[in-house]
Amino acid sequence: MPVAIVTGASSGIGLALSKHLLEQSWTVILADVAPPPPEITGTYEFVKTDVSSWDSILALFKHTFKTYSRIDFVAANAGIDDRDDVCADSATDEPAPLNFKTINIDLYGAINTYWCALHYMRRNPGGKQGKIVFTASSAGLYPFASNPEYCAAKHGLVGFTRSVSQKLASERITVNSICPALVKTNLAPTELLRIIPQEQMTPMSTIVKAFDLFINDTEFKVTGQTVECALDELIFRDPPEFGNESQQALFGSDASKWLEGYEKA
Ligand SMILES: NC(=O)c1ccc[n+]([C@@H]2O[C@H](COP(=O)([O-])OP(=O)(O)OC[C@H]3O[C@@H](n4cnc5c(N)ncnc54)[C@H](O)[C@@H]3O)[C@@H](O)[C@H]2O)c1
Repeated sequence: MPVAIVTGASSGIGLALSKHLLEQSWTVILADVAPPPPEITGTYEFVKTDVSSWDSILALFKHTFKTYSRIDFVAANAGIDDRDDVCADSATDEPAPLNFKTINIDLYGAINTYWCALHYMRRNPGGKQGKIVFTASSAGLYPFASNPEYCAAKHGLVGFTRSVSQKLASERITVNSICPALVKTNLAPTELLRIIPQEQMTPMSTIVKAFDLFINDTEFKVTGQTVECALDELIFRDPPEFGNESQQALFGSDASKWLEGYEKA
């Protein structure tokens, strides 16, 4: 039976994905700071995990690999919205430090989850293979004035996905991102859900379909992709156009000069 780890599995998108995987007989490790609701059925284990803590993530992966001997799919999904107002005027003589909780969970936590996933997927029985999907956001593609730190973290995940996938291209380990629009979960404030028209809400079924694109890739060929999930559409998003020919030559599809330059540095 294939084994998945889903972070942020106790609510919203992570919960829907976990239920979907359980319905298809996956073994699912639900990794969250909070326990899952009681209605879940199937072969699952809740492992209390705080993705803002390296020790907690490492313990999650060590436990999973030791207990189930393999890790096939990891959804780095846990996320929160902004806790700082980075545009506020400080009430004090000098600025107080920001808490960066959002960046710690949404960016560093997701990258640390990837880092552990990569390690254990390379040790899977039968050879290196696995699939990693980040839950980025439409805020990883567009400006997002209400949550600038969230926006920075999600843009970070999109750039990270596009970059590591090039370097891992020769391995059967895929890395992709999904970018949901607004989905009704516990993340969005109630007032926001009240004032945004219902017809602009993306159904959870679209998000699950986006995960399936990557989960069902039996050839391990679909990697480095960013998929915007809006209403009932899944839209593959390429990086922005090159500014000129020089940029195309520098940052185009052949990364070999950069890799060589850094390897020999
Ligand atoms: N709901 C949306 O409109 C929307 C849109 C785009 C992207 N997203 C992204 O989807 C992901 C899931 O969000 P959601 O909408 O399902 O929200 P949600 O609040 O319903 O679920 C998030 C889950 O993450 C868990 N979590 C929070 N901090 C954690 C931590 N430090 N370690 C482990 N788990 C933690 C929470 O306990 C919760 O169960 C997030 O990354 C979010 O940014 C959501």
